[in-house]
Amino acid sequence: MSRNGKHNPPGPKGAPILGMALSLRKDPLAGMQQMTRDYGDVVRFYVMMQERTLVNRPDLINQVLVMQQAKFHKSELTRRITTRILGQGLLISEGDFWRRQRRLAQPAFHRARLGEYGATMLELAEAHIRDWGDGEQRNISQEMMGLTLDIAVKTLFGTTLPGESRQIGQAMTFLMRYSLRRNRMPYRIPETWPTPSNRRANRELEFIDSLVMRIINERRAEGNSNHHNDLLALLMGAMDEDGSQMTPKQLHDETMTLFLAGHETTAQMLGWTWYALSGNPEAEATLHEELDGVLGGRAPGAEDFPRLPYLRAVMNEVLRMYPPAYILARETMETCDIGGYEIHKGSTVVISQWIMHRDPRYYDDPEAFRPERWLDGLQDRLPPGAYFPFSAGPRRCIGEGFALLEAAIVTATLAQKFKFRLVPGTEVIPEPLITLRPRNAIQMTIHAR
Ligand code: HEM
Repeated sequence: MSRNGKHNPPGPKGAPILGMALSLRKDPLAGMQQMTRDYGDVVRFYVMMQERTLVNRPDLINQVLVMQQAKFHKSELTRRITTRILGQGLLISEGDFWRRQRRLAQPAFHRARLGEYGATMLELAEAHIRDWGDGEQRNISQEMMGLTLDIAVKTLFGTTLPGESRQIGQAMTFLMRYSLRRNRMPYRIPETWPTPSNRRANRELEFIDSLVMRIINERRAEGNSNHHNDLLALLMGAMDEDGSQMTPKQLHDETMTLFLAGHETTAQMLGWTWYALSGNPEAEATLHEELDGVLGGRAPGAEDFPRLPYLRAVMNEVLRMYPPAYILARETMETCDIGGYEIHKGSTVVISQWIMHRDPRYYDDPEAFRPERWLDGLQDRLPPGAYFPFSAGPRRCIGEGFALLEAAIVTATLAQKFKFRLVPGTEVIPEPLITLRPRNAIQMTIHAR
């Protein structure tokens, strides 16, 4: 019991100084699940003497993300991992600055705009699989990363940046791993020391920065004329109520943010889709039947999706079981009450889609991939905070509609032509990095349908 009569949440003691650092490092997903089984819906634990509170009940999650959201900021942890790459982009900025940037970026994601990106998504999906042949083996996660990267580059910059696209993806992957690894080390070597990985991080960052700045500067020199119809043009043209526009630095940070947030997550979602379907041939057959019946072999368009409920159910189920954003972290800006417990100012509140989406109180047989569960209005029956692959409240993903359209177009296009089977011996284990990735390549054999 604390001084003001409120209870402190229960939780494990952990090791001296390290707290739960070692056990969570070994297997963060299993470690967090075990804590909720042992201690309940609100768990207090420590990592390197820093207080963390794991919240795992829909109404309390809704408190943090929606009802009391003003008391929570993006965590210091999130900022530390991403600031060097994303600067003050939408994902991590706060307060009035964030509100203005969100207002300026929002029109680029309006429904009418999405239709235009849809055409690009389809064109690139069809081009990507043009030379795929029956019986070939491919690393499907890498293929999906390549495809979403091409889509991100084309929709953001209106160009395909041939040759550079793959290099950008590799640089981003290295930088994310590097930041995460640095952050998980008990002692951090300063970024300025010329270690091999610091030097490579600087090189990769300079490469991406100069590429993005080159494109922005070329556009500015052209006067951002109307013939560009991409996200960058919309961001550059966006004007606030007072007539002000984004500075080159803001444009750079938002572009980097959309670029990173926009391709990696969707790539993981698609990789997990093919993995889940390959292991569930009945669900796969139902999807094929629906696609064949509605589309009859023609290309999908945004207008088809209301008539493809099973496709949507597959997507929902993939996002339930393999949420690319598997965890959210917030820092408490003032001491507050969550579920009758006192959460101290400065504490990190942790919420996990991976854990909540597998909670048997809300999902029957949660470890089973069953798209059918979504067909009879489950999404509307679930309480707020029980299913949140794109988060909730004001900081909800700005690219949700974009991601769902992209996933639907790519899934419908590929599933009409192929089915995929895991190459025997391929072990698929989810690995919680910045996003939920497969630890090893998802190596699959392609079968023409
Ligand atoms: C399956 C794909 C995606 C998933 C699962 C996903 C998930 C999320 C989640 C959970 C957040 C909230 C993060 C937090 O509160 O800490 C978020 C924020 C964000 N996402 Fe996504 N996202 C996806 C695709 C996209 C795409 C395609 C874009 C852009 C084209 C995008 C851009 C953003 C941005 C800019 C934010 C920050 C929004 C803000 O704070 O105002 N995301 N996303």
